[in-house]
Amino acid sequence: MSDLVVVGLGYVGLPLVAEACRAGLQVTGLDVSPRVVEGLNAGRSHVDDLSDEQVGAMLAAGFTATSDASCVAEADAVVICVPTPLSADGGPDLAAVESACRGIGPHLGPGTLVVLESTTYPGTTAEVVRPLLEELSGLGPDELPLAYSPERIDPGNPTYGLKNTPKVVGADDPAAQERARAFYAQVVDTVVVARGTREAESAKLLENTYRHVNIALVNEMVRFFHELDIDFWEVIRLASTKPFGFQAFTPGPGVGGHCIPIDPNYLSHRVRTQLGYGFRFVELAQEINSSMPAYVVSRVTALLNDQEKAVRGSTVLLLGVTYKPDIADQRESPALDVAKRLLQLGARVEYHDPHVEHWDVAGTVRADDDVLAAVGRADVTVLLQHHAEYDVAALEQSAACLLDTRGRTTGEKAHRL
Ligand SMILES: NC(=O)c1ccc[n+]([C@@H]2O[C@H](COP(=O)([O-])OP(=O)(O)OC[C@H]3O[C@@H](n4cnc5c(N)ncnc54)[C@H](O)[C@@H]3O)[C@@H](O)[C@H]2O)c1
Repeated sequence: MSDLVVVGLGYVGLPLVAEACRAGLQVTGLDVSPRVVEGLNAGRSHVDDLSDEQVGAMLAAGFTATSDASCVAEADAVVICVPTPLSADGGPDLAAVESACRGIGPHLGPGTLVVLESTTYPGTTAEVVRPLLEELSGLGPDELPLAYSPERIDPGNPTYGLKNTPKVVGADDPAAQERARAFYAQVVDTVVVARGTREAESAKLLENTYRHVNIALVNEMVRFFHELDIDFWEVIRLASTKPFGFQAFTPGPGVGGHCIPIDPNYLSHRVRTQLGYGFRFVELAQEINSSMPAYVVSRVTALLNDQEKAVRGSTVLLLGVTYKPDIADQRESPALDVAKRLLQLGARVEYHDPHVEHWDVAGTVRADDDVLAAVGRADVTVLLQHHAEYDVAALEQSAACLLDTRGRTTGEKAHRL
């Protein structure tokens, strides 16, 4: 008998397991990957945000991982956290959500609360998950309390974790709503009740579309401010002093990770397929943000040109290849596109990243030595990710030429994006 079964033990599922264990719940983890299940049962974490010690604490609190979906039979609540990548037509690929439902559906008993946390288009919980679960379980709508709760996990954020980030929860009937609210209230500090599943699904998409669009805004502006010879980073600093009505976003080499470049597509796809027109802000943001790696490479080319050097044969060092600072996650990192473009032009591309043992980009060379030694032999160093380990002032002093795509340098020697 479990208080909670978490389906999908990745970046989203595992922190939920950890927090629920801390809250004293009896938790079982269900995952299709034998590697994940065996690793966790042996005390090994496979996600950045959770240490082996934390997995050990989960096991000590009674957690077990399994691939046997019958574990949901006696559960009080089941939360689904499986991946929703982009499909070929630009919408969410719901294969994992559907397969998770097919796995658990036949074992569900009456009254078990089911919550979907995977990011998806509005309508998925009511139109895809509910019919599947009702058909497979043989349960009626009143016997199957179903809710949606968007995950807001921010990997590497030392201030906001699952517990102190308000949790939005939506269900389409009052009884399910109360079950879902009461369940999450055991685990997180603040539960925010949504009017229904569609509103809860859409809230997540608004949050990420807002970030995507605002990042695109500054990414477009940084280019022409550079040409106008106005320090855009200083402009942002000044605007940020306004205590209301302005939130600062900063330019960079592109957007990465599992959410920002992907989630807004779920909404634009839904609008296009259901209503027949586009979501122009998302399309424009996509175009601008995805062109940033090419812009970074054009700046590298210009900096080499100033030194009377060609890209071909020059050594370009990329510092930080992950999509966020201080984590090892490389998913959708724009560094990949930057490296490929430089390699295509014939550069010798070295990379350095204290969080990445092996970067699977054919043709790049790992700088195994001290970062300043690597910087010393590069024709151009590109700071792509500002990991805490990097001493920016020292980098600026040691580099023959430094392109800072994160606006962290303050001296006159470095070139900011
Ligand atoms: N990573 C983030 O920062 C983040 C933040 C917010 C929301 N999300 C969303 O949360 C969802 C999960 O993302 P994630 O990053 O945790 O993915 P992940 O790839 O880290 O983990 C998913 C896990 O689900 C397992 N799985 C796949 N199909 C399964 C099935 N049918 N049954 C059981 N287990 C299955 C996989 O083996 C894997 O261990 C996605 O919809 C994602 O968009 C992710």
